[in-house]
Amino acid sequence: MDKQTTIAAFETHVSAGKAEFFKKHGMDFIMGAREGVWIHDIDGKKRLFNCHSNGGVFNLGHHNPEIVDTLRTALDDLDIGNHHFMSQERTGLAKQITDSMPGDLDVCIFGVGGGEAVDLALKLAIGHTKRSTIVSANGGFHGHTGLAMAVGDAQYRDPFGVHAGNMVQVPFNDVPAMQAALTPDVAAVILETIPSTLGMVMPEPGYLQKVRTLCDANGTLLIIDEVQSGLGRTGKLWAFEHAGITPDMVIIGKGISGGIYPISVTVIREPLDNIFKKNPFIHISTYGGAELGCRVAQKVMAMSSDKAFLNRVNEAGESVRTGLEEIKAKYPKFFTGIRQRGLMIGLELRDNYAGPALTKAAYDQDLLMIYANNDMSISQFLMPLIVTDGEIHWALERLDKAMNAARKLRTALMAKEKGGAFINRFSGND
Ligand SMILES: Cc1ncc(COP(=O)(O)O)c(C=O)c1O
Repeated sequence: MDKQTTIAAFETHVSAGKAEFFKKHGMDFIMGAREGVWIHDIDGKKRLFNCHSNGGVFNLGHHNPEIVDTLRTALDDLDIGNHHFMSQERTGLAKQITDSMPGDLDVCIFGVGGGEAVDLALKLAIGHTKRSTIVSANGGFHGHTGLAMAVGDAQYRDPFGVHAGNMVQVPFNDVPAMQAALTPDVAAVILETIPSTLGMVMPEPGYLQKVRTLCDANGTLLIIDEVQSGLGRTGKLWAFEHAGITPDMVIIGKGISGGIYPISVTVIREPLDNIFKKNPFIHISTYGGAELGCRVAQKVMAMSSDKAFLNRVNEAGESVRTGLEEIKAKYPKFFTGIRQRGLMIGLELRDNYAGPALTKAAYDQDLLMIYANNDMSISQFLMPLIVTDGEIHWALERLDKAMNAARKLRTALMAKEKGGAFINRFSGND
């Protein structure tokens, strides 16, 4: 199917809204060939440097040859497996993951996507504590499934008329607000280590430790969502390691797929599986922890936890920082700050028009980067972790040009806005 036929059929059979949006803004890109940091349009006329990495799915780049080989080899003897039986592949992966975690985070339950893994964590927390309230962060994002959606931003459930139930939200980094929210009915607090959709907000020193202490004092479980921040993105395997805390549950998704085979994991402390000890078949995910996916994830774990790999992420983070500081100095009114840990980066921009303007200007400069939907003044900047120095140099040169163009585009957007033509339509809601 050629590009125009694909677009027409996509409009009819997949999403008319998306087709219309991308055509209107000259971004009608359809992914064809892909490799490393690059994705190419199927018509061969444009390529994009992926500075979004689907929020970490492509931490190891597109079509990583080691991951592809692992899947190819796995296909010689495995398939999805059977979710009822015990499994060598699930056991191997669970052992690798739990060995990498502190304390008694000893049990892994597998799913397919991040939202599913969050839903399970919240369901377990409510069941285990026999309490019904969950506290999360304003503007946080944990997925679009049932309970995960309920603890996220209202903009993703209000259009469907879905009500949040006993879900309370507090500002991230606000200790007194957290303290006030922790009533005796709170089963769990769920937080992203670094909230991405909120614009890569860095936890203030001591914040996560304080939340841990408050949870302990209240008999509340602490669930840490590492769907985006995990697997080396911040220069440590798990981002919560920077705070030195041990969560009660950890959510893993996106990057654990190697960009090749969907899989997610809810890691829990041993006593939290009591419900399953009584009835091991009351939670099922037919494809969760598919054996082919486990083999891929084992390889991802091995690659991402390698010391040299993590050192390289930190080193790459430093080179990116140097380049970003130079660009910031050129456009100080437009590009106002840098939020960064390793290669988890958010660019602080002038205002809510600037994020969408930069997304479009960057696209025109062959960079895929998306503004944070719950704070549109921030542009997410998430290069694949395998990025080379040469690629960093190339991307920063283009980013410089994009910043320049985005300043003008912002003015045009402000004039056109009120209609929200671009704003609020194409968003980094992950
Ligand atoms: C922090 C975080 N948690 C959970 C999810 C949900 O993952 P999924 O889209 O695989 O359901 C996302 C997705 O973007 C995420 O960014």
